[in-house]
Amino acid sequence: MNASDARYRWAQAAVVALLGVPLAVLAWDFFREIRQPGVAFGPDPAETIVRYLGEWAIRVLLATLAVSPVARLLGRPRLVRYRRTFGLAAFSYAVVHFAGYLVLLAGLDAGTFLADFVERPYITVGLAALVLLAPLAVTSTRRWQRRLARNWRRLHRLVYAIGVLACIHLLWLSKGDYMDAALYGGLLALLLGERLARYTSRRRQRRGA
Ligand code: HEM
Repeated sequence: MNASDARYRWAQAAVVALLGVPLAVLAWDFFREIRQPGVAFGPDPAETIVRYLGEWAIRVLLATLAVSPVARLLGRPRLVRYRRTFGLAAFSYAVVHFAGYLVLLAGLDAGTFLADFVERPYITVGLAALVLLAPLAVTSTRRWQRRLARNWRRLHRLVYAIGVLACIHLLWLSKGDYMDAALYGGLLALLLGERLARYTSRRRQRRGA
């Protein structure tokens, strides 16, 4: 292993550790809550935990979308290597958020889940986002990238639609306070706008050539 590989491995470990910090904070809060009920999660621990995990799912998802533009902005194209780690972390937070909902809010009851799925559109939309994230996580490896060739890029563009679904999910459950939905929606619009601007300028360049 050369020095550059070693540096990459350390940086990769640091990124994984950083992305795991919110989970470590949650584990610490569990510990505090057990020692002194109510101190960490307030009057409704189930809701607090599910919301906390949902917030981190959307933050890491948007951070994943920001990796490439930030790499371009800083002139450090190699930063793109960390995009997969961010994407897998976003998927993991979404899975744990969903598991939290199933266990803490739906009480592992299939009837409650089905009723929520049918009657609460924000649950339907959240689930759609999660289901769409799964194939992206599975095909995020180099092997799949090679196997799918041009279709890999097409498939992974789905991440923008997933971002939109996540924002609709948040908007639908916001109940009067739309600050977060506006913030995350605004960030997503910015990232989508940048992507669209690049796409159109490339097309124009190709046509010109
Ligand atoms: C990519 C997938 C998902 C993302 C990014 C996401 C994100 C979020 C966010 C940001 C919140 C609000 C947090 C807050 O208000 O501070 C939230 C709340 C919630 N999410 Fe999700 N979510 C996803 C998938 C799901 C799925 C699959 C379910 C269940 C089927 C679900 C169920 C819920 C529930 C029940 C709440 C509200 C908790 C409460 O206030 O009682 N989410 N989610």
